[in-house]
Amino acid sequence: MDAAPPPRDEWSTRAAFVVATIGSAVGLGNIWRFSYVVGENGGGAFLVAYLVAVIALGLPLMLAEFALGRRARADVVTAFSFEMKSRRWALAGWLAVIASLAILSYYAIVAGWAYRYFVIYLIGSPAGAGRVDAATHFTAFLHSSWEPVAWQLLVLATAVVAVIAGVRNGIERLNRWLVPLLAAIVVVLAAYSLTLGASRAGLGFLFTPDWSALARPQVWLAAFGQAFFSLGVGLGALATYGSYAPAPVGLPRTALLVAGADTSFALVAGVAIFPAVFAFGLDPTQGPALAFVTLPQVFAVMPGGAWFGLAFFALLSIAALTSAVALVEVPVAAVIKAKRWSRTRATLAIGTLAFVAGVPSALSDSAFAVLRPWGVNILEAIDRFSSNLLLPLGGLSVALAVGWAWPRERAVTSGGLASPSLAAAWWYALRFVVPAAIVAVLCWTALRH
Ligand code: TRP
Repeated sequence: MDAAPPPRDEWSTRAAFVVATIGSAVGLGNIWRFSYVVGENGGGAFLVAYLVAVIALGLPLMLAEFALGRRARADVVTAFSFEMKSRRWALAGWLAVIASLAILSYYAIVAGWAYRYFVIYLIGSPAGAGRVDAATHFTAFLHSSWEPVAWQLLVLATAVVAVIAGVRNGIERLNRWLVPLLAAIVVVLAAYSLTLGASRAGLGFLFTPDWSALARPQVWLAAFGQAFFSLGVGLGALATYGSYAPAPVGLPRTALLVAGADTSFALVAGVAIFPAVFAFGLDPTQGPALAFVTLPQVFAVMPGGAWFGLAFFALLSIAALTSAVALVEVPVAAVIKAKRWSRTRATLAIGTLAFVAGVPSALSDSAFAVLRPWGVNILEAIDRFSSNLLLPLGGLSVALAVGWAWPRERAVTSGGLASPSLAAAWWYALRFVVPAAIVAVLCWTALRH
């Protein structure tokens, strides 16, 4: 007979669960990705589509994923197959594990860029003193044959240390300190940005809806993709974190809090970024380079820019770290369960795998520059592949598992919505609205390629 497994770790309180989940949701997606996606998709109009996506798709899926993990009180692979007639549901769990690893492989690279810029501002040599220099500087860094790998390694090492320390002693403690710090930094930056004299233009860009943009399917697609990415649904992170929730826990309330915090965070980060960009006459529609090229140009000329830059890259680094930790924890929990490895061994193995898998992305403009699937470098290709395909597939499997494979009674009980009409609305959303929207997104993406 097998020895009894050690008792599972849990969050110490409900608040700790909420804070850790906010830490996983708030990441590069809210600052780096959100700001450039808003910039590319017409500002305010995009925001409307984004809010619709969060409420109609994000919230129902979040609650379903929490319910999945919480009911099984296990890793995502076990959670998918728990009480199911077919063991094949475990495959959906492994898909989530692979998707987490795929995202982690390049997420750690961009997080490494943030760490590097933080250190550069810390030692007082801000990247690119002049306006042209910032772009040259960033490109030179990306073309280095080793530097991005060194920063990637540092990111993974910090995440691995937290995950080895455990759910309560590592992940919970890290988030308890860093999430409030994140909130404080972003609020101060936004307040300062509003004093720079272009608050009208900056806020106008972010909040004035140009309704005609909503007629472009492209804007909706970008909004759905951004909502999935930013809330972190479909990768098993919510299922895994939900599985550590202590006994009486209000899952619907937690989902609302996390989605609300994640969205507010992105908006406040937008208030920190756009008025500053407009105040110095720069263009916010430059794509992924916004945070690493455009903003350093702003910091180079703005009063107190060295401090603003330091705080901004601290913000980006911390946000990325608490998300990377969740992306490590998903495969680690699955491997601990499937192979009965110790937490240390599983974490080191996953960390090594993520490192090796990420090296081509880290060197996507140098040693691996010849790899250009779909005409973009390998980092962007993996980003597109995971955000456009793996994430929606992950979300679809959650909706199908809870909305179709589970008996209605089980779904409603596990979701924990007190009002019967809300519970019914949630259940129908999972059965029809969410799968239909995801299939539409997948078809549209397939048609464009
Ligand atoms: N939500 C994270 C961000 O905005 C990225 C992310 C996507 C994520 N899926 C995740 C983080 C799963 C942790 C777990 O940056």
